[in-house]
Amino acid sequence: MENPSEKRQAAAARARENPDPHENRTPMPKVVLALVVALVAWGAWYIVSAPINEPSALGDRRTMADLRGKPQAAGGAVDGAAVFQGRCVACHQATGQGLPGVFPPLAGSEWVTGKDAKLASIVLRGVTGKLTVKGTAYNGAMPAFADQLSDAEIAAVLTHVRSQWGNTAPAVTAETVAAARAETAAMKAPFDGDAALGSPGG
Ligand code: HEC
Repeated sequence: MENPSEKRQAAAARARENPDPHENRTPMPKVVLALVVALVAWGAWYIVSAPINEPSALGDRRTMADLRGKPQAAGGAVDGAAVFQGRCVACHQATGQGLPGVFPPLAGSEWVTGKDAKLASIVLRGVTGKLTVKGTAYNGAMPAFADQLSDAEIAAVLTHVRSQWGNTAPAVTAETVAAARAETAAMKAPFDGDAALGSPGG
């Protein structure tokens, strides 16, 4: 049996309670709505204006020719400096000095300034084994470029290295390279150093 004072206590206890929580339907703030609409609109505009009709193999607008270092200069002539940058610089270095004991120098090399046909054959077919350059013996592997570079490209890069770093030797023509290519066509392996190449001038 409750007495009046217990009733009052119970009523007072209920009054102290917080109201039960309930869900509210508050609308999305206008700023957020505006941002979402703007973002979706921008996304749609971006997709529509994207260059989907251009080749996108590289993910950007560079072509394979750009990546190869553009050996073709304006006017169709081959840029020997560009071929050197693309194909030779990693080993023979931008200074033409090579790396001591590993890659021989092209600067001041008797092979570079020697007979043009022999120089062309070196680049066409490659060299392995002991090769003497400026009095120092090297024993590395110079890759063959016959399958990678055209006669015009080899002529251009050789003309370039023959006029760099103090070298002063006449230009190499594509005809000389073509003749060297034909003459060495039967070679299945690179030149075996000094033994196979003889002297730079002969
Ligand atoms: C992977 C490294 C490498 C690359 C790339 C390379 N060479 Fe060589 N090259 C060598 C090595 C090593 C030798 C010496 C081979 C030996 O010791 O038998 C050599 C030797 C030579 C020689 C004769 C020796 C001398 O120093 O004069 C010439 C000329 C030459 N390279 C020119 C070139 C040209 C031009 C290119 C670019 C088209 C080129 N090389 C790219 C490594 C390379």
